[in-house]
Amino acid sequence: MSEKKNPHQDLVVMVDRLWMFVRYSLIEPILEIYRGASTGSLPVVACWIVGITLSGALLFHIDDTLLRFFGSHPILIGRIRGVLGIVLLFSGFLGWAFFRVGLRERIKKKLKAVFINASLETKLKETPEFVVDVPLDEFTRKLRLRGRGLPVQAYKDARNYIEAGLNVSLAKIENPSGNREYVDIVYTTEKMPDLWLLDNFLGYKDFSFPIGLSLRGEITASFKVLPHFLIAGESGGGKSTFIRMLVTVILINNQDVEIYFIDFKRGMENQVFEGFDRMTLIDDAKEACAKLQSINSILDSRMKAFRNAKARNLEMYNSRPSRKGPKEKRIIVVVDEVSEMVPTMGNPNNSDLGHANSIMNRIARMGRAVGINLVIGVQKPDAKNLDTVIKANTPGVVCFPVSHFNQSMVVLGNGRAAELNSEIKGRAIWKQGADFIEVQTPLLTEKEVYEARERITKYWEPRTSRETAKETNALSEKEAPAS
Ligand SMILES: Nc1ncnc2c1ncn2[C@@H]1O[C@H](COP(=O)(O)OP(=O)(O)OP(=O)(O)O)[C@@H](O)[C@H]1O
Ligand SMILES: [Mg+2]
Repeated sequence: MSEKKNPHQDLVVMVDRLWMFVRYSLIEPILEIYRGASTGSLPVVACWIVGITLSGALLFHIDDTLLRFFGSHPILIGRIRGVLGIVLLFSGFLGWAFFRVGLRERIKKKLKAVFINASLETKLKETPEFVVDVPLDEFTRKLRLRGRGLPVQAYKDARNYIEAGLNVSLAKIENPSGNREYVDIVYTTEKMPDLWLLDNFLGYKDFSFPIGLSLRGEITASFKVLPHFLIAGESGGGKSTFIRMLVTVILINNQDVEIYFIDFKRGMENQVFEGFDRMTLIDDAKEACAKLQSINSILDSRMKAFRNAKARNLEMYNSRPSRKGPKEKRIIVVVDEVSEMVPTMGNPNNSDLGHANSIMNRIARMGRAVGINLVIGVQKPDAKNLDTVIKANTPGVVCFPVSHFNQSMVVLGNGRAAELNSEIKGRAIWKQGADFIEVQTPLLTEKEVYEARERITKYWEPRTSRETAKETNALSEKEAPAS
């Protein structure tokens, strides 16, 4: 006896299949491209290269054999070739999107098994439900789950199972902006280094210094390209360590520089710089104000001299044959914690601080063209602590972990620093134009700073830059076999 088929059932199956087909071949890839483009994780150049190469191949009629299947009508062939050309032109984007959708589906499938393994189940044997998985950058993604009432701590306890099961590194697990129904898991498919000991700090020439190691390799920055730097992040993230590394690398690799380091906390760590040639440590408001005042006068006189010499920057001015006297040095003003410079009620130094702030504001606006740079550390970069003009004129930004989305928004314009794993010391987001790159910043231990100091006093006595540059090379060569 044959079973009678329900025609509605067939229709439902057919509609379901059609929906799946449209969803996975069209909607999901397009959404993936959209998310990739809006987060900057889409490798646009590579996709265009693939697309243009493949569609360009049509010029050589390599598709003729294929088109013969459709007959020989020239209009039909022309149309098919047109469609094929368009598909091939976007094939790089499509290929990338299909790959991403596939990767995500694989993670989705694995999730249930991982959750069961990690005992992330409710009493009713329900496991967390997949909601969405979006890219944050080329290597970092955010997986949102409906948590089924399991506390966020349960996910943190299951961290090892999740990492091993999905073969990813977890950066952060949290409820999105306090919404306990969902759990966000930020992860990377590649492994970032958790520590980068900067043992070779020679060779960073022309006022450059390392920012950190990213998944794409080492990132460096230079005062010649970016005049001012903001180093933000909560207490203990690594701001002072980074600033100390930056100052050491600049001092050891460049002779024509003067650094003014303002640190009212009189941080023990910065005592290593005491007595450093070309470096002035400033630990009180009066002295800071006086020093900034004299830098302000230098700014004025350089503006005049550079204008007369038609020089757009320090290097141009120093190389003018008509110029007399010694070379003008690059001046870098470093502030370990800028909120210490903010006038507060009843503070006897308020007028000095107010004046110091207005000079920093001026340096931020005009320092670039005359070789006067700023490096500013800040824990809470709100309007109270950080002058908006200084912030707007500071293109180099390193942001260490912050605990709230809003704090990250203020510094970076997005929530990336709130998604960093704050347990990894020295982890930060480097803002480079429109890109936001996760980096492991270099660690230069206090011992190494002392060693650098030894070298500086030994090798950087008043000599010409060329001589000292030669010596630095000789020094690195001499030291290479020993390391
Ligand atoms: N790049 C790094 N790699 C490894 N460890 C680091 C790194 N940077 C900082 N640390 C560790 O973190 C500790 C705190 O760093 P640091 O004092 O620089 O933080 P901070 O942001 O200046 O804090 P605060 O705002 O309280 O001054 C350091 O003592 C060091 O042990
Ligand atoms: Mg500090």
